[in-house]
Amino acid sequence: MAQQNNQGREQWASKIGFVLAAAGSAIGLGNIWRFPYKAGQYGGGAFVLAYILATFLIGIPLMIAEFSMGRSTQKSPVGALKKLRDSRFWPLVGWMGICSAFIVLSYYSVVGGWILNYIYESCFSSFQTGMAGVRFEELLARPGQQMLWHFLFMAITVFIVRGGVKSGIEKCSKILMPSLMVILFILMVNSLMSSGAGEGIRFLMKPDFSKLTRAGILEAMGHAFFSLSLGMGAMITYGSYLDKGTNISVSVLQIVALNTFYAIMAGLMVFPVVFTYNVDPGMGPGLFFVTMPEIFARMPGGQIIGFFFFVMVVFAAITSAVSLLEVVVSYFIDQLGWSREKANYLLGSVIFLAGIPSALSSNILKTVTLFGGKNIFDSLDFLASNYIMPIGGLLTAVFVGWVLTKQEKEPELKCGEGSFHFYGIWNVLIKYVVPVALVIVLLYTTGIMNF
Ligand code: PHE
Repeated sequence: MAQQNNQGREQWASKIGFVLAAAGSAIGLGNIWRFPYKAGQYGGGAFVLAYILATFLIGIPLMIAEFSMGRSTQKSPVGALKKLRDSRFWPLVGWMGICSAFIVLSYYSVVGGWILNYIYESCFSSFQTGMAGVRFEELLARPGQQMLWHFLFMAITVFIVRGGVKSGIEKCSKILMPSLMVILFILMVNSLMSSGAGEGIRFLMKPDFSKLTRAGILEAMGHAFFSLSLGMGAMITYGSYLDKGTNISVSVLQIVALNTFYAIMAGLMVFPVVFTYNVDPGMGPGLFFVTMPEIFARMPGGQIIGFFFFVMVVFAAITSAVSLLEVVVSYFIDQLGWSREKANYLLGSVIFLAGIPSALSSNILKTVTLFGGKNIFDSLDFLASNYIMPIGGLLTAVFVGWVLTKQEKEPELKCGEGSFHFYGIWNVLIKYVVPVALVIVLLYTTGIMNF
């Protein structure tokens, strides 16, 4: 029987299940696709250091804040904010979260679909030298193909969320996360045995501060934010299924450690082969969909390694997509009293439809631009990760740091197993450091401040 709190709300069955589900949300395309290429562009180890610092100063305090809000109210974002302060303004922050989860999932699923396509292709045909770029272009040019794979990815996500908190999200995280870990570990060891290992490790670990521009530091902050799934209520939602016996500070440290560990392992998997096969480590987003298949084409056993690589990536993407859908679905369950089935099928379908323009933005709708000449897909990503998420995070920090009272916050941090908690330092970080850092990030991304 599903575990429930005394209001009948479903809860996580175990602490490890909760940690794996939250880590599953955090570990996604951000770690495996974005992190290595950003590190490649901004000085390797220097970027890694900036990212770790941002994780500690911004990521940890905000994640604690989100979990506390969810657990203390036992509600998803809109309900949580309403319950804490029933004003006109604050629940809007919850709404922003729902909108950004909706937007992000609509295009995240399109990328998830590309990965499914790569898995399918690697089963039936081999990676061919010099063909990776052409193949990727071909996939992007075919609207039908993209929609089919986007549909499949969404269908998998809907199928998992349908099972609910314990038998859906928690169960899938308990299977997918350890599998992901094992595959990534084997791929990393394999990669570390290649001749470029020394150079790859040096690149990732030795900071080249000359390449870490101010823009690089801000990128690292923004990345820490996206990578930890903050600022859109995903962690409020997951916190709302948490019982009082869990120590939030300890869980957050575990989740963040897992997330950072995965990102670094992904880097240690990618860079040794990048140097072995002499490709440019700073080539940007294509590092993933073009460079890696190219490397698999040239590597002995590349077919099977490539297959497992993409399986691992899709596992990571699915657990993140599940958390995005849960944010949206839980609003309809909590606030409108819908059944999980109805909310899930309906919203899953609506999000699938909303993702179609993104799937078409590299072909039929290629010429349609929204912001600054960007196509629909890039515009949505830009809007969500550069504006809505940091604004959501900033408002969450202000709300928790300045609006909530000590009596409302302290008990949440101090309850749960063990005596380890850090209320004092956390409160200073969430009140001063997080808002200031996020304002700087926002001023930079909006171009108001030029560095
Ligand atoms: N953290 C996920 C990633 O790294 C993305 C994500 C953002 C998921 C926000 C949920 C909420 O890919």
